[in-house]
Amino acid sequence: MSRRNKITIVGAGNVGATAAHWAVQKHLGDVVLVDIKEGMPQGKALDLAEASPVMGFDCTLTGSNSYDATAGSDVVVITAGVPRRKDPKTGKFTSRDELVEINRKIVGSVTREVVKRSPDAVLICVANPLDAMCHVMYHESGFPKERVIGMAGVLDTARYKFFISEALGVSVDDIHGMVLGGHGDTMVPLPHHTSIGGIPLPELLPKEKIDAIIERTRKGGGEIVGLLGYSGYYAPAASVIAMVESIVRDRKRVLPAACMLQGEYGYKDLFIGVPAVLGKGGVEKIIEMKLGDAEKAMLEVSAEAVRSVVELLPYDKSSN
Ligand code: NAI
Ligand code: 2OP
Repeated sequence: MSRRNKITIVGAGNVGATAAHWAVQKHLGDVVLVDIKEGMPQGKALDLAEASPVMGFDCTLTGSNSYDATAGSDVVVITAGVPRRKDPKTGKFTSRDELVEINRKIVGSVTREVVKRSPDAVLICVANPLDAMCHVMYHESGFPKERVIGMAGVLDTARYKFFISEALGVSVDDIHGMVLGGHGDTMVPLPHHTSIGGIPLPELLPKEKIDAIIERTRKGGGEIVGLLGYSGYYAPAASVIAMVESIVRDRKRVLPAACMLQGEYGYKDLFIGVPAVLGKGGVEKIIEMKLGDAEKAMLEVSAEAVRSVVELLPYDKSSN
């Protein structure tokens, strides 16, 4: 009998629990939810499992405060960490970079626990600051770069496509495009590589409207924090599950993902969002697209922003 895929999600909070929900709804495999909060991952796993007769999925759900339940996972998603919040007194948002100190310790310890039990897994980071946390996962796991990936580009691209679909009144299905770079205000949407049913975006929307969409995309995470007081989770969870699906079903989708670059796009020893083919092996290929001078310059600004956070981490850049 063939074995079902095993997907571990560490951090059973907003993004983690919602990702578990999408994963079983799509029948991607058995899901293990781990969290430090006692009873919480068990309760969410049981609640979701009780939905299975109604929704018609056969995947098992396990909630645990221990990593033993995660042994032999095919994919491990790490959402454990502290999210962005709005300070109720000052109204100021936590920046992704302010999270670096606290989340590097959480992501580091979680990574060490999961890799002991799942040495062949593909690791996907969600915790912020995303690109820097990928470096933590990479160094702490000792895994090859192909099996350490960050989720941000799928989310940033989803926001970008949604805003375009709203502006044009057309289906999201017919919008093709990508957002590259780091997960922050310097991310790089590519309007000249965006098309709607094959028609280039600049033919359908004036420059001011495109610029406004780019700006809204860059601030998309903050827009949700401003409304909710904490960060979004439906679109982030859906985005990480698109990556998980491509990996466990070996679909080889081309998705923007934070990958360790070793020469691609002219960068070395740096995780940043680029188009990648995701399959059973994790990042099976990084696609190098031709960028114009302005796009290259924007990518450099974004890479510099990521580097400035990575430099705060206690790792020798050339190790692994
Ligand atoms: P949340 O607070 O709802 O959930 C985080 C969970 O992690 C909590 O349940 C907490 O108990 C758990 N946790 C903390 N330390 C842990 C540890 N050592 N071991 C196991 N579990 C631990 O937060 P949310 O909204 O789910 O966000 C999670 C992370 O994902 C944050 O860092 C957030 O900024 C990031 N994020 C990243 C996105 C991206 O595009 N990459 C999008 C949305 C969120
Ligand atoms: C987002 O973009 C907070 O990084 C998170 O929603």
